[in-house]
Amino acid sequence: MCGIVGYVGQQNATPFLMDGLKRLEYRGYDSAGVAILDAGRISIRRAVGRLSALEDSLEKAPILGKPGIGHTRWATHGAPTETNAHPHTDDSGKIAVVHNGIIENYQELRAELTAKGHRFTSQTDTEVIPHLIAQELKDGAADFLTALRNALARARGAYAVGAVFADNPDTVYAARHGSPLIIGLGENEFFIASDVPAILNRISKVIYLNDGEVATLTPRGVRVFSLDGTEVQPEIQTVTLSAEAAERAGFETYMLKEIHEQPRVLRHLLEKNETLGDEIGLSADYFRKLNRIMIVACGTAYHAGMYGRLLLEQFTGLAVETDLASEFRYRDPKIDPGTLLIPVSQSGETADTLACIRMAREWGCKALAICNVPGSSVVRESDATIFTEAGPEIGVASTKAYTAQQMAFALLALHIARARDTLDDEEIAECMIDLRKTPDAIHRVISRKESIKAVADKHHDGPSSLYLGRKFNYPTALEGALKNKEISYQHAEGYAAGEMKHGPIALINEYLPVICICTKTRDEVYDKMLSNMKEVEARHGRIIAVATEGDQHVKGIAEDILYVPEIRDEFSPIINVVALQLLAYYAAQARGTDIDKPRNLAKSVTVE
Ligand code: G6P
Repeated sequence: MCGIVGYVGQQNATPFLMDGLKRLEYRGYDSAGVAILDAGRISIRRAVGRLSALEDSLEKAPILGKPGIGHTRWATHGAPTETNAHPHTDDSGKIAVVHNGIIENYQELRAELTAKGHRFTSQTDTEVIPHLIAQELKDGAADFLTALRNALARARGAYAVGAVFADNPDTVYAARHGSPLIIGLGENEFFIASDVPAILNRISKVIYLNDGEVATLTPRGVRVFSLDGTEVQPEIQTVTLSAEAAERAGFETYMLKEIHEQPRVLRHLLEKNETLGDEIGLSADYFRKLNRIMIVACGTAYHAGMYGRLLLEQFTGLAVETDLASEFRYRDPKIDPGTLLIPVSQSGETADTLACIRMAREWGCKALAICNVPGSSVVRESDATIFTEAGPEIGVASTKAYTAQQMAFALLALHIARARDTLDDEEIAECMIDLRKTPDAIHRVISRKESIKAVADKHHDGPSSLYLGRKFNYPTALEGALKNKEISYQHAEGYAAGEMKHGPIALINEYLPVICICTKTRDEVYDKMLSNMKEVEARHGRIIAVATEGDQHVKGIAEDILYVPEIRDEFSPIINVVALQLLAYYAAQARGTDIDKPRNLAKSVTVE
C-alpha cells in the first residue's frame, strides 16, 4: 500500500525520490507525487497511474532542489485522481505532507478546520494533516515540530507521515504510529522510507521509528522525539541485506527470481534453525505447559498457517486452530494464557494480523511470530519471532516467503514435539533427513519449468479453473488457486477435494481445467484423490495433476502432469506448491499481465 520516501542531502532530491518510489512500486499504488523544496518554496508534482507518468512529467519540466518527499498512493479515501494524490498542502502551500495509513477522525477534523476557514481540495483523509499543522502554527505553536506533534496527537488511526515546511528549508519531518516508516543513514545523506529495500542501495544503517515518535532529518543529522516532545535516543541498526537482494538479477520478473531463490532460502533456514532452541524466546517448559495454539494470518500467510496447523497437530498433539486475522479479531474466542498465538506475516505490517497480537496480549497470551522483516511491527509486538530470512520479497504474489513460512512451521512443530516428548529422537531425526531433501526437490521442480510452461500455455485461456487437494495439500490447493487469480486474473477456486461433490462438481465440463494435487502418500488420502480425479474424468473435466515421479495411476487419468520428487507426506506441500507457482506464473505470462505488480493488489496491507 502507500509508499513513502524522503531525501535530505547535498544533491537534487528528484532522482533519489524517484529511485526510492520505483523500489516501492511493488507495494501497490495508483498515483504518485513529490514535493521538493527550492529557494524557500515547495514545488509539487503529481500524476495518476504508473510512476512513468510522474517521471515523464518531471522530465518535461524538471524540479530542482532539496530536500524532498515522495509518495505512491493506493487509493482508500477518494478515487485515484491527481487531486487526491499526495503530497497534500495547507492553504498557503508552505506545508506539504505524504501519509500512509488512515486518519479515522478526518471528517470531524475537516469540519472543524473548514469552520475555521481552511479550504480542502481533495477527498482524502490525509489533507487534514497539513491543515491541522497550519492551524497549530496559527494558534501559536512554538515551531513546526511542535505544531506537527500537536496535530498528530489529535489524529486517530494509523499513520506514517513525511512532511516539509517552506520556512525550514533544510528539514524533512517524519512520524509514525501504526504504519511502517524507517530512517536510513547514508554518507552525509539521510532518507525516510516505508521499508529498507527502497533505499538499500544508499544506506547501511537504519533507525526503525517506534509508534508515537517524530523525527527531524537535516544535513547535520537525525533527531528523534516522542509525541510529548521529549528527545529519545534512537537505536541505530546495521542492515545485513545486500543491495543485490532487492534487484532482479537478470530474471524477467522479481517473481521468477523469487521462485528460483526458494532452494537457497530453505537451505539457509534449515542450517540456521536446525535445532530451534530456547533462543526463539520461549522455553521448553513453556511449550510443555501449553494447551492450545492459535494461528492468525492473511492471504498467502494464512495458507501457510493452515499447513502449520496440520503439522503442529500431527507432531505435537496440541489443539491447534488457524483463522483469518480479519475474522479472528471480530470473534469472541475463548483464549487464555495457556494459548500461544502464532501470527504469520511476510511484511510484518498487515493491519489485521497486528490487531490480533494486540488482542492476544490483552488476554495474557504470548505471541510467537513467523515473519520475514526484522524491525517490523509484528516482530516488535510479539514476544518471540522465527525469522523466515527469505530476503526482500518484491513480487506482489508471495512465493519464497510462503515456502519459508512452511519450513518455519515444520521446524517449530519438531521443536515443540521434542519439548513435549510427542516424537522420539529417532522420529525427529528422520523428519529432519526428509526436510533436508526439500531444497533439492524444489530445484528439480524448477528445472522442469519448460514443461510446466507448456501446460500453462495449453490451459491459460479459459475463464476459470478449479484446484483440488486433501489434508496436507488442501492448503496447497488454496494457495495454487490464489497464485493463479492474483497474477493471471483467471478466476480460480481452491477446494478440499472431498467437498467437490457438494458444489463445484456442477462446474465441471470439457473446458474446465481441474488441478488435482495427488502426490503419493502413506495414508488413504492418495486413493481418495484418485477417486475424485476419476469423478472429474467421468464428467470430461481437463485434469492437470501434480503427481509423484513415476506414478502410473495418475498417468492413466490426467491429461497433463506436473511431476515432483517423492517426499514424506507431511513435507510434500513445500514442494508441490512450487509447481503451482510456476503454473500460475506461465499462465499469467501467456495472458500478458503485469506479473510483479498485478492490478489492484498491494504487497503490504497496512489498513483494515
Ligand atoms: C497481501 C499480499 C499477499 C500476502 C498478504 C498478507 O494480500 O498481496 O501476498 O500474503 O497481504 O501479507 P503478510 O505480509 O502479512 O504476509
